[in-house]
Amino acid sequence: MAGRSSNRSIGTVAMRWHGDRLELLDQRLLPAEEHWIVADGASAVAQCITDMVVRGAPAIGISAAYGVALAARHAGGGDWQAEIKQAIRVLAKSRPTAVNLFWALERMEKVFHACHSLDEATDRLAAEAVRLHEDDLAANLAMADFALEVMNPDKPVAVLTHCNTGALATGGYGTALGVIRRLHEEKLLKRVYADETRPWLQGSRLTAWELTRDHIPVTLNADGAAAAIMASGKVKWIVVGADRITANGDVANKIGTYNLAVLARHHKIGFMVVAPSSTVDMSLESGKDIPIEEREGTEVREIRGIPLAPAGVQVFNPVFDVTPASLIDAIVTEKGAVRNPNITGMRALFT
Ligand code: MRU
Repeated sequence: MAGRSSNRSIGTVAMRWHGDRLELLDQRLLPAEEHWIVADGASAVAQCITDMVVRGAPAIGISAAYGVALAARHAGGGDWQAEIKQAIRVLAKSRPTAVNLFWALERMEKVFHACHSLDEATDRLAAEAVRLHEDDLAANLAMADFALEVMNPDKPVAVLTHCNTGALATGGYGTALGVIRRLHEEKLLKRVYADETRPWLQGSRLTAWELTRDHIPVTLNADGAAAAIMASGKVKWIVVGADRITANGDVANKIGTYNLAVLARHHKIGFMVVAPSSTVDMSLESGKDIPIEEREGTEVREIRGIPLAPAGVQVFNPVFDVTPASLIDAIVTEKGAVRNPNITGMRALFT
């Protein structure tokens, strides 16, 4: 899936489903190279998620769903149920923080449990993965409408975003970046400031790439410049995605998001989180319960093998942080917006 939905550009989507294999745009090589990797089984998909060939909470969930479909497609015919269950277990271990992964696997598991033969499972799991992919795109288009209602801009605004939440990170169009696309479509976007997003540089390598390709005006900034941009009065909203949202409205998102929320409150700038309801985890009370992934120190110490720090220096590399609900002005999903989120507002929309 790529290109246009009705007459709206949905951006460059990071996965192509072929029934017997999943092709993933290798996001580790962007923007230098556009290279597609073929994943022909659930383990290959899981490895691509772990290695960040594909990344972004919704895209991880969608890829995992296709991984389950591939497990059925390639099951040996003997104990096919055990093979699919094992594939789901492997996929569930690929990354810990984005709840969309577990949500997608649960959705696939439900379909799997209702199947009575391998042929039935092969057809139904593939159909479900495609549906899940399509639902994500539809959710992104819907949440952009709700976000614009919340923003209600009467003239073009500039916004600042963090990480990558675009077509590459989702089933198309994007979450926070979808809102930015919609502002642009409505001629209500002055400019996007994109945090480069150390250490993995999703902002410079992916967001700036997506926006440039789609002719959306973007200025790339070092993460540390965000405070100065806010102080200059240039931006009206900070718009970010999410990897998990808990019952009280706390939000786990890419490391550095919490900094932005603190700064936005200081500068009296709106702070908006945009994510599909598959990112909401009402089973967790607060952000304290979210497992935060820590990745290898090499991601901070070096870039493509070039040292940026003394070899072997100790590194702290949590790749997500938790923004408390009290710093968030609105959480926007395809089901609607929760303003000034708290447990009551969250329950009203998500139970
Ligand atoms: O580590 P990543 O690149 O998979 O990080 C996930 C993200 O893309 C962001 O945290 C994003 O804001 C939420 S997913 C649209």
